[in-house]
Amino acid sequence: MKIMEISGGKELSGTIRISGAKNATVALIPAAILTDEEATICNIPEITDTDALCDILKALNVKVSRASESIVINPQEMQDIEITEKFSKKLRASYYFMGALLGKYKKAVMYFPGGCSIGARPIDLHLKGFEALGAKVTNEKNKYIVEAEELKGANIYLDIASVGATINIMLAAVKAKGTTIIDNAAKEPEIVNVATFLNNMGAKITGAGTSTIKIEGVDYLHRCFHEVIPDRIEAGTYIIIGALCGTPLKIDNVIPEHIDSLLSKLEEIGVDLEIGADYVIVSKANSYKPTTIKTAVYPGFPTDLQQPFTVLLTQSNGKSKVVETIFENRFMHIPYLKELGADVTVKNQTVTIIGPSTLKGSNVVATDLRAGASMVVAGLLAEGTTTITNIEHILRGYEQIVEKLTGVGAKITIKEI
Ligand code: EPZ
Repeated sequence: MKIMEISGGKELSGTIRISGAKNATVALIPAAILTDEEATICNIPEITDTDALCDILKALNVKVSRASESIVINPQEMQDIEITEKFSKKLRASYYFMGALLGKYKKAVMYFPGGCSIGARPIDLHLKGFEALGAKVTNEKNKYIVEAEELKGANIYLDIASVGATINIMLAAVKAKGTTIIDNAAKEPEIVNVATFLNNMGAKITGAGTSTIKIEGVDYLHRCFHEVIPDRIEAGTYIIIGALCGTPLKIDNVIPEHIDSLLSKLEEIGVDLEIGADYVIVSKANSYKPTTIKTAVYPGFPTDLQQPFTVLLTQSNGKSKVVETIFENRFMHIPYLKELGADVTVKNQTVTIIGPSTLKGSNVVATDLRAGASMVVAGLLAEGTTTITNIEHILRGYEQIVEKLTGVGAKITIKEI
């Protein structure tokens, strides 16, 4: 088993370069099968989610060639076959193959792992969108068969501005007959990145990034070249680390507009930030003010950063609160923050943090990707040694995290035990 060991309390200075966005990549790779020719995508992060999706492509007989951070995907000889449970379970975002296969072949057969640790995470809105386009959904336990004689453009209203449903419906609609409108669409930057990719192949999508997306169906999608946007959640995680340990830390290859809500919260509590066109320089300060954050859909405060931000709030002078409104079970890091010495309590969907508290190294567990990231943040701050188990969660979403942190002075290693 792999564990991470961190010797905390180090001052971190230098530059960390942000990789391509995981949450764009996990949609772009399935979307690439929609081209009738070949798609080249660069700035792909080398994380285990990328590997898992490439395994699924190869199982579908799609030609995949990867070179450092770029990937060439050629689906011209792919087979329209079922994605087995083994492959479907490799990662939740495999569900994007439903929309892509439906869009390409008018049929998708795959297994859906259902909930995960942070919540039930149903896909009812995805399936509702597919049905609106004319597909029939058959569900036997966790096996889904989605098929249509013909896919016809439709007006679809999303009860929740779901990132996954917005993207999956877009993938299913790009080759449908006629026009599809998605209302109450999610506006995350990753959605814009996927829409741009599809338009680069010849799709006709307008309105991505707003709550109304229009997709005019086309018959043919040609070869294209595309670049993954920088990962705003990875960037936010390292900026928070800089606010705790930076002397200073420069986070490079950032789109500051994508993390406006985080940057304004950091400035509100007194973090010293220099915000450039594509970088942020951050230094730790002696004291921070308390605040309340409430997660929301983009451009609100991202749910994926509430766990790392909670660690920062353990150093604020006074009472802070974190209210989670997106997922129902995203506080599994709290018992481990307590273990490290933080004064944190959870009631319903709100964490109350009393600071400042001195964190001391201990043995903790990564319960999910961003909870794991919050354990890394806490371990870098805490006096003494912190070990983290279940680090596979962390390696899914943070490319070269040990190398990036070691490069700026952290004492962090991965050990096989
Ligand atoms: C995406 O998940 C991200 N994952 C999540 O990041 C992120 O936290 C989330 O969006 C919110 O920003 C990827 O992009 C791969 P949703 P997704 O559909 O698409 C409910 C990370 O750490 N819902 O916007 O699954 C759902 O249960 C991950 O990188 C339905 O009820 O999120 C949730 O409560 C974690 N029915 C809410 O909507 C549906 O059909 C928002 O979910 C779909 C969603």
